[in-house]
Amino acid sequence: MKLFDVYPINNIIIEKAKGSYVWDDKGEQYLDLYGGHAVISIGHTHPHYVERLTSQLNKVGFYSNSVKMPLQEELAEKLGKLSGKPDYQLFLISSGAEANENALKLASFHNGRKKIVAFKKSFHGRTSLAVAATDNPSIVAPVNQTPNVIFLPFNDVAALEACFAAQGNEISSVIIEGIQGVGGINVASELFLQAIRRLCREYNAVFIADSVQCGYGRSGKFFSQDYAGVDADIYTMAKGMGNGFPIGGIIIAPHLQPKHGMLGTTFGGNHLACAAALAVVEVMEKENLIQNAAEVGQYLIDELTKIPQLQNVRGRGLMIGFDVPEAFKDLRKNLLWKHKIFTGEAKPNVIRLLPSLALRKKDADQLLEAIREEVQVGAEA
Ligand SMILES: Cc1ncc(COP(=O)(O)O)c(C=O)c1O
Repeated sequence: MKLFDVYPINNIIIEKAKGSYVWDDKGEQYLDLYGGHAVISIGHTHPHYVERLTSQLNKVGFYSNSVKMPLQEELAEKLGKLSGKPDYQLFLISSGAEANENALKLASFHNGRKKIVAFKKSFHGRTSLAVAATDNPSIVAPVNQTPNVIFLPFNDVAALEACFAAQGNEISSVIIEGIQGVGGINVASELFLQAIRRLCREYNAVFIADSVQCGYGRSGKFFSQDYAGVDADIYTMAKGMGNGFPIGGIIIAPHLQPKHGMLGTTFGGNHLACAAALAVVEVMEKENLIQNAAEVGQYLIDELTKIPQLQNVRGRGLMIGFDVPEAFKDLRKNLLWKHKIFTGEAKPNVIRLLPSLALRKKDADQLLEAIREEVQVGAEA
Protein backbone atom coordinates (compact mmCIF):
# COMPACT_ATOMS: atom_id res chain seq x y z
CA MET A 1 0.00 0.00 0.00
CA LYS A 2 1.29 3.48 -0.89
CA LEU A 3 1.16 6.31 1.61
CA PHE A 4 -1.06 9.28 0.86
CA ASP A 5 1.08 12.30 0.03
CA VAL A 6 0.15 14.68 2.88
CA TYR A 7 2.83 17.38 3.11
CA PRO A 8 6.06 18.13 1.24
CA ILE A 9 8.61 16.22 3.31
CA ASN A 10 12.27 16.60 4.16
CA ASN A 11 14.27 13.49 3.48
CA ILE A 12 15.21 13.00 7.14
CA ILE A 13 14.39 10.12 9.46
CA ILE A 14 14.28 11.24 13.07
CA GLU A 15 15.24 8.49 15.49
CA LYS A 16 15.94 10.29 18.74
CA ALA A 17 14.88 13.53 20.40
CA LYS A 18 15.72 15.38 23.60
CA GLY A 19 14.82 18.92 24.69
CA SER A 20 15.19 21.22 21.68
CA TYR A 21 17.24 18.70 19.68
CA VAL A 22 16.51 15.75 17.41
CA TRP A 23 18.88 13.21 15.83
CA ASP A 24 18.53 11.43 12.51
CA ASP A 25 19.27 7.79 11.67
CA LYS A 26 22.87 8.72 10.86
CA GLY A 27 23.41 10.30 14.28
CA GLU A 28 23.32 13.87 12.92
CA GLN A 29 22.03 16.39 15.47
CA TYR A 30 19.49 19.11 14.56
CA LEU A 31 18.21 22.10 16.52
CA ASP A 32 14.42 21.91 16.40
CA LEU A 33 12.85 25.36 16.13
CA TYR A 34 9.69 24.00 14.56
CA GLY A 35 8.50 21.39 17.08
CA GLY A 36 6.63 19.46 14.38
CA HIS A 37 4.04 22.23 13.70
CA ALA A 38 4.32 24.01 17.10
CA VAL A 39 3.50 20.86 19.03
CA ILE A 40 6.54 20.35 21.26
CA SER A 41 5.93 22.63 24.22
CA ILE A 42 8.02 21.33 27.14
CA GLY A 43 10.78 19.80 25.00
CA HIS A 44 11.16 16.38 23.44
CA THR A 45 11.13 13.32 25.74
CA HIS A 46 11.12 15.37 28.94
CA PRO A 47 11.86 12.87 31.77
CA HIS A 48 8.73 13.80 33.76
CA TYR A 49 6.58 13.42 30.62
CA VAL A 50 8.11 10.04 29.77
CA GLU A 51 7.67 8.84 33.34
CA ARG A 52 4.03 10.04 33.61
CA LEU A 53 3.05 8.42 30.31
CA THR A 54 4.94 5.19 30.96
CA SER A 55 3.53 4.66 34.42
CA GLN A 56 0.01 5.51 33.18
CA LEU A 57 0.34 3.04 30.33
CA ASN A 58 1.32 0.36 32.80
CA LYS A 59 -1.89 1.03 34.74
CA VAL A 60 -4.58 1.81 32.15
CA GLY A 61 -4.07 3.46 28.76
CA PHE A 62 -7.64 4.03 27.66
CA TYR A 63 -11.16 3.98 28.79
CA SER A 64 -13.95 6.11 27.38
CA ASN A 65 -15.94 8.89 29.01
CA SER A 66 -18.48 6.39 30.31
CA VAL A 67 -16.58 6.03 33.59
CA LYS A 68 -15.41 8.52 36.19
CA MET A 69 -11.91 9.82 35.47
CA PRO A 70 -10.08 11.56 38.29
CA LEU A 71 -7.25 12.37 35.85
CA GLN A 72 -9.62 14.64 33.91
CA GLU A 73 -10.62 16.41 37.10
CA GLU A 74 -6.98 16.87 38.09
CA LEU A 75 -6.24 18.29 34.64
CA ALA A 76 -9.20 20.69 34.77
CA GLU A 77 -8.10 21.90 38.19
CA LYS A 78 -4.46 22.49 37.21
CA LEU A 79 -5.33 23.98 33.82
CA GLY A 80 -7.84 26.33 35.42
CA LYS A 81 -5.12 27.68 37.69
CA LEU A 82 -2.37 27.90 35.07
CA SER A 83 -4.59 29.58 32.48
CA GLY A 84 -6.14 31.96 34.99
CA LYS A 85 -9.64 30.71 34.06
CA PRO A 86 -10.64 28.56 37.06
CA ASP A 87 -14.38 29.17 36.54
CA TYR A 88 -14.48 27.89 32.91
CA GLN A 89 -15.40 24.28 32.14
CA LEU A 90 -13.21 21.94 30.14
CA PHE A 91 -14.26 19.62 27.30
CA LEU A 92 -11.52 17.34 26.01
CA ILE A 93 -11.07 16.11 22.45
CA SER A 94 -8.12 15.03 20.34
CA SER A 95 -7.16 17.75 17.83
CA GLY A 96 -7.28 21.43 16.99
CA ALA A 97 -9.86 21.14 14.22
CA GLU A 98 -12.10 19.18 16.53
CA ALA A 99 -11.72 21.87 19.20
CA ASN A 100 -12.82 24.59 16.77
CA GLU A 101 -15.62 22.43 15.37
CA ASN A 102 -17.05 21.97 18.86
CA ALA A 103 -16.60 25.63 19.77
CA LEU A 104 -18.46 26.85 16.67
CA LYS A 105 -21.20 24.33 17.25
CA LEU A 106 -21.55 25.22 20.91
CA ALA A 107 -21.81 28.92 20.04
CA SER A 108 -24.62 28.13 17.65
CA PHE A 109 -26.40 25.99 20.23
CA HIS A 110 -26.03 28.88 22.68
CA ASN A 111 -27.59 31.67 20.65
CA GLY A 112 -29.49 29.70 18.00
CA ARG A 113 -27.75 31.59 15.19
CA LYS A 114 -25.81 30.49 12.11
CA LYS A 115 -23.38 33.19 10.98
CA ILE A 116 -19.69 33.01 11.81
CA VAL A 117 -17.26 35.89 11.44
CA ALA A 118 -13.71 34.79 10.55
CA PHE A 119 -10.75 36.73 9.17
CA LYS A 120 -8.55 36.92 6.12
CA LYS A 121 -5.54 34.58 6.31
CA SER A 122 -7.16 32.55 9.09
CA PHE A 123 -6.52 28.83 9.59
CA HIS A 124 -8.83 26.87 11.88
CA GLY A 125 -8.45 23.27 10.68
CA ARG A 126 -9.57 20.92 7.94
CA THR A 127 -12.90 19.53 9.13
CA SER A 128 -16.27 20.82 8.03
CA LEU A 129 -16.98 24.11 9.84
CA ALA A 130 -13.36 24.66 10.85
CA VAL A 131 -12.29 24.55 7.21
CA ALA A 132 -15.25 26.67 6.13
CA ALA A 133 -13.94 29.34 8.53
CA THR A 134 -10.43 28.96 7.08
CA ASP A 135 -9.42 31.52 4.47
CA ASN A 136 -8.02 29.09 1.91
CA PRO A 137 -10.52 28.08 -0.79
CA SER A 138 -8.13 25.40 -2.11
CA ILE A 139 -8.72 23.21 0.96
CA VAL A 140 -12.49 23.81 1.17
CA ALA A 141 -14.38 21.02 -0.62
CA PRO A 142 -17.74 21.83 -2.19
CA VAL A 143 -19.49 20.01 0.66
CA ASN A 144 -17.80 22.31 3.18
CA GLN A 145 -18.85 25.52 1.45
CA THR A 146 -21.41 27.56 3.36
CA PRO A 147 -22.80 31.08 3.06
CA ASN A 148 -22.71 31.25 6.87
CA VAL A 149 -19.07 32.35 7.12
CA ILE A 150 -18.23 36.03 6.64
CA PHE A 151 -14.54 36.82 6.11
CA LEU A 152 -13.43 40.26 7.27
CA PRO A 153 -10.04 41.94 7.06
CA PHE A 154 -7.78 41.17 10.06
CA ASN A 155 -7.22 43.97 12.57
CA ASP A 156 -9.81 46.23 10.92
CA VAL A 157 -12.06 47.55 13.70
CA ALA A 158 -14.18 49.66 11.33
CA ALA A 159 -15.02 46.67 9.10
CA LEU A 160 -15.97 44.62 12.15
CA GLU A 161 -18.20 47.37 13.50
CA ALA A 162 -19.88 47.79 10.11
CA CYS A 163 -20.53 44.05 9.90
CA PHE A 164 -22.14 43.96 13.35
CA ALA A 165 -24.17 47.10 12.61
CA ALA A 166 -25.55 45.43 9.46
CA GLN A 167 -26.19 41.90 10.72
CA GLY A 168 -25.14 41.67 14.38
CA ASN A 169 -28.33 39.88 15.40
CA GLU A 170 -27.53 37.00 13.05
CA ILE A 171 -23.92 36.52 14.12
CA SER A 172 -23.41 33.43 16.24
CA SER A 173 -19.66 33.71 16.80
CA VAL A 174 -16.44 35.47 15.95
CA ILE A 175 -13.44 33.17 15.68
CA ILE A 176 -9.92 34.56 15.72
CA GLU A 177 -6.36 33.37 16.25
CA GLY A 178 -4.68 35.74 18.71
CA ILE A 179 -1.61 35.33 16.51
CA GLN A 180 -2.27 33.87 13.07
CA GLY A 181 0.09 30.95 12.54
CA VAL A 182 -0.39 29.36 9.13
CA GLY A 183 -1.29 32.83 7.79
CA GLY A 184 2.28 34.00 8.50
CA ILE A 185 2.53 35.12 12.18
CA ASN A 186 0.18 38.09 12.24
CA VAL A 187 -0.52 39.45 15.71
CA ALA A 188 -4.11 40.54 16.43
CA SER A 189 -3.95 44.06 17.83
CA GLU A 190 -5.14 44.69 21.34
CA LEU A 191 -7.68 47.23 20.04
CA PHE A 192 -9.07 44.66 17.64
CA LEU A 193 -9.47 41.98 20.31
CA GLN A 194 -11.10 44.52 22.61
CA ALA A 195 -13.52 45.50 19.81
CA ILE A 196 -14.42 41.82 19.27
CA ARG A 197 -15.07 41.48 23.01
CA ARG A 198 -17.25 44.58 23.12
CA LEU A 199 -19.30 43.75 20.02
CA CYS A 200 -19.81 40.09 20.97
CA ARG A 201 -21.10 41.16 24.35
CA GLU A 202 -23.37 43.82 22.85
CA TYR A 203 -24.90 41.46 20.27
CA ASN A 204 -24.87 38.23 22.30
CA ALA A 205 -22.38 36.62 19.90
CA VAL A 206 -19.72 34.20 21.15
CA PHE A 207 -16.06 35.23 21.10
CA ILE A 208 -13.98 32.15 20.20
CA ALA A 209 -10.24 32.50 20.73
CA ASP A 210 -8.53 29.90 18.55
CA SER A 211 -5.51 29.25 20.72
CA VAL A 212 -4.53 25.99 19.05
CA GLN A 213 -1.18 27.37 17.89
CA CYS A 214 -0.73 30.66 19.80
CA GLY A 215 -2.02 29.35 23.14
CA TYR A 216 -0.66 27.22 25.94
CA GLY A 217 2.07 29.68 26.89
CA ARG A 218 3.68 30.00 23.48
CA SER A 219 3.15 33.77 23.31
CA GLY A 220 4.70 34.39 26.74
CA LYS A 221 1.24 34.50 28.34
CA PHE A 222 -1.02 31.48 28.68
CA PHE A 223 -3.35 32.80 25.97
CA SER A 224 -2.08 35.41 23.52
CA GLN A 225 -5.44 37.19 23.88
CA ASP A 226 -4.42 37.90 27.49
CA TYR A 227 -2.19 40.71 26.18
CA ALA A 228 -5.37 42.62 25.31
CA GLY A 229 -6.80 42.15 28.81
CA VAL A 230 -9.97 40.50 27.48
CA ASP A 231 -11.62 37.18 28.21
CA ALA A 232 -12.95 35.15 25.31
CA ASP A 233 -16.11 33.05 25.78
CA ILE A 234 -14.49 29.90 24.44
CA TYR A 235 -10.78 29.13 24.03
CA THR A 236 -9.75 26.26 21.77
CA MET A 237 -6.47 24.44 22.40
CA ALA A 238 -4.44 21.52 21.05
CA LYS A 239 -0.83 21.36 19.72
CA GLY A 240 1.32 22.12 22.81
CA MET A 241 -1.26 20.69 25.17
CA GLY A 242 0.08 17.13 24.96
CA ASN A 243 3.67 17.79 23.80
CA GLY A 244 3.02 15.38 20.93
CA PHE A 245 0.29 13.20 22.39
CA PRO A 246 -2.91 14.00 20.45
CA ILE A 247 -5.14 15.95 22.81
CA GLY A 248 -7.22 19.08 22.35
CA GLY A 249 -9.66 20.93 24.50
CA ILE A 250 -12.09 23.79 24.70
CA ILE A 251 -12.70 25.81 27.79
CA ILE A 252 -16.11 27.38 28.13
CA ALA A 253 -17.02 30.55 30.08
CA PRO A 254 -19.50 30.11 32.91
CA HIS A 255 -22.30 32.11 31.25
CA LEU A 256 -22.48 29.55 28.44
CA GLN A 257 -24.46 26.58 29.65
CA PRO A 258 -23.90 23.64 27.31
CA LYS A 259 -26.39 20.91 28.02
CA HIS A 260 -25.57 17.27 28.60
CA GLY A 261 -25.52 15.47 25.24
CA MET A 262 -24.63 18.50 23.09
CA LEU A 263 -20.98 17.48 22.85
CA GLY A 264 -19.37 14.07 22.87
CA THR A 265 -16.29 12.06 21.87
CA THR A 266 -14.88 8.55 22.06
CA PHE A 267 -11.17 9.24 22.42
CA GLY A 268 -11.22 12.69 24.04
CA GLY A 269 -9.80 12.89 27.54
CA ASN A 270 -8.67 9.27 27.78
CA HIS A 271 -6.24 8.21 30.49
CA LEU A 272 -3.05 8.44 28.45
CA ALA A 273 -4.03 11.78 26.92
CA CYS A 274 -4.72 13.21 30.37
CA ALA A 275 -1.41 11.89 31.70
CA ALA A 276 0.38 13.65 28.83
CA ALA A 277 -1.51 16.91 29.38
CA LEU A 278 -0.91 16.76 33.14
CA ALA A 279 2.81 16.22 32.61
CA VAL A 280 2.87 19.28 30.32
CA VAL A 281 1.08 21.52 32.79
CA GLU A 282 3.27 20.31 35.68
CA VAL A 283 6.52 20.92 33.78
CA MET A 284 5.34 24.30 32.51
CA GLU A 285 4.66 25.37 36.07
CA LYS A 286 7.73 23.85 37.70
CA GLU A 287 10.16 25.16 35.08
CA ASN A 288 8.47 28.52 34.54
CA LEU A 289 8.23 27.87 30.83
CA ILE A 290 5.76 30.65 30.05
CA GLN A 291 8.19 33.16 31.53
CA ASN A 292 11.02 31.50 29.60
CA ALA A 293 9.04 31.78 26.36
CA ALA A 294 8.50 35.49 27.03
CA GLU A 295 12.19 36.14 27.78
CA VAL A 296 13.93 33.99 25.18
CA GLY A 297 11.29 35.02 22.63
CA GLN A 298 11.91 38.72 23.24
CA TYR A 299 15.65 38.14 23.00
CA LEU A 300 15.20 36.41 19.65
CA ILE A 301 12.89 39.12 18.33
CA ASP A 302 15.32 41.87 19.42
CA GLU A 303 18.33 40.15 17.87
CA LEU A 304 16.55 39.18 14.64
CA THR A 305 15.38 42.78 14.28
CA LYS A 306 19.04 43.87 14.28
CA ILE A 307 19.75 41.78 11.15
CA PRO A 308 18.95 44.31 8.42
CA GLN A 309 18.43 41.70 5.70
CA LEU A 310 15.39 40.25 7.51
CA GLN A 311 12.15 42.13 7.10
CA ASN A 312 9.23 42.70 9.41
CA VAL A 313 10.31 40.58 12.37
CA ARG A 314 7.16 39.98 14.37
CA GLY A 315 5.41 37.79 16.92
CA ARG A 316 5.26 37.30 20.64
CA GLY A 317 7.13 34.94 22.92
CA LEU A 318 8.26 31.89 21.00
CA MET A 319 5.90 32.39 18.07
CA ILE A 320 8.01 34.44 15.70
CA GLY A 321 7.96 35.19 12.00
CA PHE A 322 9.98 37.26 9.57
CA ASP A 323 9.99 37.88 5.84
CA VAL A 324 12.91 36.68 3.77
CA PRO A 325 13.77 38.84 0.77
CA GLU A 326 14.16 37.19 -2.63
CA ALA A 327 17.97 37.43 -2.43
CA PHE A 328 17.94 35.01 0.53
CA LYS A 329 15.16 32.76 -0.65
CA ASP A 330 17.19 29.64 0.18
CA LEU A 331 17.68 30.68 3.78
CA ARG A 332 15.30 28.09 5.26
CA LYS A 333 16.77 25.30 3.13
CA ASN A 334 20.31 26.32 4.10
CA LEU A 335 19.41 26.50 7.78
CA LEU A 336 18.22 22.92 7.57
CA TRP A 337 20.84 21.30 5.36
CA LYS A 338 23.95 23.34 6.19
CA HIS A 339 23.32 24.39 9.78
CA LYS A 340 21.05 21.50 10.85
CA ILE A 341 18.28 23.74 12.14
CA PHE A 342 14.59 23.01 11.59
CA THR A 343 12.35 26.05 11.10
CA GLY A 344 8.82 26.44 9.77
CA GLU A 345 7.54 28.38 6.80
CA ALA A 346 4.48 30.25 5.68
CA LYS A 347 3.80 31.09 2.07
CA PRO A 348 5.23 32.86 0.21
CA ASN A 349 8.44 33.90 1.99
CA VAL A 350 7.97 33.80 5.74
CA ILE A 351 10.12 31.81 8.17
CA ARG A 352 8.24 30.75 11.30
CA LEU A 353 9.92 29.86 14.58
CA LEU A 354 7.84 27.62 16.86
CA PRO A 355 10.33 25.96 19.21
CA SER A 356 9.81 24.31 22.56
CA LEU A 357 8.99 26.80 25.32
CA ALA A 358 12.08 25.52 27.10
CA LEU A 359 14.37 26.91 24.40
CA ARG A 360 17.55 28.28 25.95
CA LYS A 361 19.30 31.49 25.03
CA LYS A 362 22.28 29.52 23.74
CA ASP A 363 19.97 27.60 21.36
CA ALA A 364 18.62 30.93 20.14
CA ASP A 365 22.23 32.08 19.61
CA GLN A 366 22.88 29.04 17.43
CA LEU A 367 20.10 30.19 15.08
CA LEU A 368 21.23 33.82 15.13
CA GLU A 369 24.81 32.85 14.25
CA ALA A 370 23.60 30.66 11.39
CA ILE A 371 21.36 33.40 9.97
CA ARG A 372 24.11 36.03 10.25
CA GLU A 373 26.47 33.71 8.36
CA GLU A 374 23.86 32.99 5.70
CA VAL A 375 22.91 36.58 5.01
CA GLN A 376 26.60 37.45 4.88
CA VAL A 377 27.23 34.60 2.43
CA GLY A 378 24.14 35.61 0.46
CA ALA A 379 25.27 39.24 0.29
CA GLU A 380 28.74 38.25 -0.97
CA ALA A 381 27.44 35.78 -3.60
C1 LIG B 1 -4.70 28.12 14.66
C2 LIG B 1 -4.98 26.70 14.33
N1 LIG B 1 -6.22 26.21 14.52
C3 LIG B 1 -6.51 24.93 14.24
C4 LIG B 1 -5.57 24.07 13.72
C5 LIG B 1 -5.94 22.63 13.40
O1 LIG B 1 -5.35 21.78 14.32
P1 LIG B 1 -5.22 20.21 13.99
O2 LIG B 1 -4.25 20.06 12.89
O3 LIG B 1 -4.77 19.62 15.30
O4 LIG B 1 -6.59 19.73 13.63
C6 LIG B 1 -4.28 24.53 13.49
C7 LIG B 1 -3.24 23.66 12.90
O5 LIG B 1 -2.25 24.07 12.40
C8 LIG B 1 -3.97 25.88 13.79
O6 LIG B 1 -2.75 26.39 13.57
